[in-house]
Amino acid sequence: MSQIVAVLNGPNLNLLGKRQPEIYGRETLADVEADCRRVGAGLGLEIEFRQSNREYEIIDWIHDARGRTAGIVINPAAFTHTSVAILDALHAFEGPIIEVHISNVHKREEFRHHSYVSAVASGVIVGCGTQGYALALQRIATLIGTKEGA
Ligand code: DQA
Repeated sequence: MSQIVAVLNGPNLNLLGKRQPEIYGRETLADVEADCRRVGAGLGLEIEFRQSNREYEIIDWIHDARGRTAGIVINPAAFTHTSVAILDALHAFEGPIIEVHISNVHKREEFRHHSYVSAVASGVIVGCGTQGYALALQRIATLIGTKEGA
């Protein structure tokens, strides 16, 4: 039976492909979702892919993942740099968490250099473009020991 992995996306990522393509590329979030499902299937993972512009909704999804999903891949977008509430919610999750940023936040403005979420993440993938999501799923598969990912 497949294990479930939640792939959670924060604010403005619904505009991926249209928003600052010189930074985030031309792939849309629907392209990323399709990629995650394809890569996930190969790793024996069932993907729950979600995006919200609302902090509380992301927190509710993290709570909902507890005891039910094997891991979380999260791109908290701007909430990365502001949200103690998302950090606290992730502290209540038992499985591995991989944080993803499409752009290399360390090459950008100073305020993007600090992440609240990194304090709880098993790993962080930064600046690998949208490919970072597939890399994160591979890492989750290794950490939870699915046959295909081990
Ligand atoms: C981002 C980087 C954040 O600083 C920014 O606010 C985003 C996207 C990334 O994927 O590179 O919205 O998380």
